[in-house]
Amino acid sequence: MKITFRLILSLIVVVVTVAIISAWFHVRQEREKLYEEVRSQSALLAESFKESVRHNLETGNSSGLQKLADKFQNQKQLEGVAVYDSSGTLISGSSSLAPDLLSRATEINALIEAGSGADRIYAVGEKKIFLHPLKITFDGAKTARIVLFTDISYIDYDLFKIWRRTLLRLLAQMVMISLVTLLIIRWNLVDPITQMAEWMKGLRIGDERGSAPPFKGDIFAPIAREATTLATNLQAARRAAQNEARLRQKGESLWTPERLKEHIRVKMDGRPLFVVSNREPYMHLREGKEIKAIVPAGGLVTALDPILKAAGGTWIAHGSGDADFEVTDEHNRIKVPPEEPAYNLRRIALTKEEEDGYYYGFSNEGIWPLCHIAHIRPIFRKEDWEHYYAVNKKFAETVLEEIADVKEPCVLIQDYHFTLLPGMIKAVRPDARVAVFWHIPWPNPETFGICPWQRELVMGLLGADLIGFQTQFYCNNFLDTVDRTIESRIDWEHFSVQKEGHVTLVKPFPISVDFTQPDRESKKLSEKPDAAAVLKELGIKAEKIGLGVDRIDYTKGMLERVKAVERFLEKYPDYVKKFTFIQLGAPSRTHIPQYHRFLAELHAEVDRINWKFKAKDWKAIVFLEKHHDHKEITKYYKIADTCLVTSLHDGMNLVAKEFVAASDDHRGVLILSRFAGASRELKDALIVNPYDIEQMADAIYYSLTMPKAEVEERMTRMRQDLHENNIYKWAANLTEELMRLRMDDFRLTGV
Ligand code: G6P
Repeated sequence: MKITFRLILSLIVVVVTVAIISAWFHVRQEREKLYEEVRSQSALLAESFKESVRHNLETGNSSGLQKLADKFQNQKQLEGVAVYDSSGTLISGSSSLAPDLLSRATEINALIEAGSGADRIYAVGEKKIFLHPLKITFDGAKTARIVLFTDISYIDYDLFKIWRRTLLRLLAQMVMISLVTLLIIRWNLVDPITQMAEWMKGLRIGDERGSAPPFKGDIFAPIAREATTLATNLQAARRAAQNEARLRQKGESLWTPERLKEHIRVKMDGRPLFVVSNREPYMHLREGKEIKAIVPAGGLVTALDPILKAAGGTWIAHGSGDADFEVTDEHNRIKVPPEEPAYNLRRIALTKEEEDGYYYGFSNEGIWPLCHIAHIRPIFRKEDWEHYYAVNKKFAETVLEEIADVKEPCVLIQDYHFTLLPGMIKAVRPDARVAVFWHIPWPNPETFGICPWQRELVMGLLGADLIGFQTQFYCNNFLDTVDRTIESRIDWEHFSVQKEGHVTLVKPFPISVDFTQPDRESKKLSEKPDAAAVLKELGIKAEKIGLGVDRIDYTKGMLERVKAVERFLEKYPDYVKKFTFIQLGAPSRTHIPQYHRFLAELHAEVDRINWKFKAKDWKAIVFLEKHHDHKEITKYYKIADTCLVTSLHDGMNLVAKEFVAASDDHRGVLILSRFAGASRELKDALIVNPYDIEQMADAIYYSLTMPKAEVEERMTRMRQDLHENNIYKWAANLTEELMRLRMDDFRLTGV
């Protein structure tokens, strides 16, 4: 109220001051105008009077003079006229003029002395009289003065009326200002703040009526944004605490972001975590004049971002966005995620040649097809290898710079882009605990053996203290490869390799996704999008929806999948015009010819199949080739009746786990390739051979006709499994294993 009062008072003071100043000017102008009018009227009248007065003076006609004076008395404001001789003695004056007025000789003399036009004002009782003198000559050299007496009391009254009007107007304005201010403050401040307070109270006492505060509008938009984040965090923290309590009660141990944070703090003794990968978690892109941050597609980013968000630390990666270095500081660092900074991203710039040789060339035309049995021939070029080596060195220098002040730092290196990095880091910082996680498959030694630099790759990796793979099978393949490639001591019992006094432990760590998202934990279903509306946006109608979500990559089995959709519609024609398959495809590695060819072939296949089943308002396949953000993808996961994750070969394929995590109504069916690492865990999926088109077509049919109870049972079991084996547990296991290694003992004795 105090503030309202102060606001009203300030407004009133300003308005009153302005009004008074302007009224004062107005009154002054008005006064001058009115005086000027009196002055000119008096002058005019005196002039008209002059000749008759002169004539009467010259003829000595004093009664004529008196008549004349009386004739002009009491006309409008003119009180009367008087004629004085040169010494100031009254000759004649209107009888209406009071004698004391006429005989103010000294003043009148002074007036007469001053000459014509030297007006003067007399106060007579309540009246104000304006005197206007005019000098006349008669009989040659004699002089006299005509003086006009005008009552100008009306001027003051007129000016008083102006002031009165102003004050009345001011009064009305003050009332209006007070009312309007009160209403504005009430509607725009008091009401929203009261609502906000009630909403906060609800939040405090655990009444979860949504995480967004109930008001909108530009004034409160920044507060609303922050309050939303605060509420989401509070609700998440509360749920985590409830969960922890529940788990403690049950004796279970579920991994949550909070638990991971604490675990890392304790296990790593407060040291920060360092993660290295080629792909960065947030990419800044220029869109016209704006810079937009996107989360690039791919399992690695999906999995690791929640870990860093929970535990903090530094993520070192290639800055590949066209506006990446416009937003970083002088050390190429930026805090991410942009909306709620939780950890540091250190970007490394690469030249076009480096990117071509190291990323497109050696990593993705060489190692990628080498490790994925997808029948694409790997290409190994010497120049690519040289770039690959140089970029690993460049990353090593940056990592060494970042860890310079940290004793026994923990570095988690990701994937096949950095096989040489562990060795390079350990050569300079033997105290660093270095782990490599290999996200993709590791082939058998025969397959790996075609790489001309297999020895260098294996030796580089063995620089690490710990190498993690997605499955035990890949660990076996790796040790077999080491066995065939270099001289070393392999301990098959503990799965470790000793080489030149250094020991590397090799273990499976099946990667996962974040499964502690708020709505899932609270058992409250997140809002399910309206499938018909989503399909309408795509310009079609359908009763059942199949979904594929992939980076456009030849390993993902997308061609086989669309063929399976075709076969399904042929075999089960009842589903024509009823079943639509939506494929979300994020463009990937688009400068590699093999990816071009693959994309062109995929488009041709989709076109062919759609043409074959062409119908009004319906399509067999909708291919949405663009980058979709997490929210959009989740919308599709939620409306899908069946999700096809049918890679030809995949380390894990987190799309399978993401689909399970998003299906909080337990209603989707997962069709999963037996060649994806995820099939080792998600046993309740319909496991298929992606090369077997008939089998996949039948799996689609089965997924759509599966009894509801079975769908729910399968999904519930998969969700339970994922709930327990989420990404936080993965990170906890990996870091725990890394911190447990007794590095000195290893050097001396091995495992
Ligand atoms: C796979 C790899 C990741 C990679 C991701 C996306 O999941 O294992 O290392 O980041 O694909 O590929 P991209 O080439 O776009 O980084």
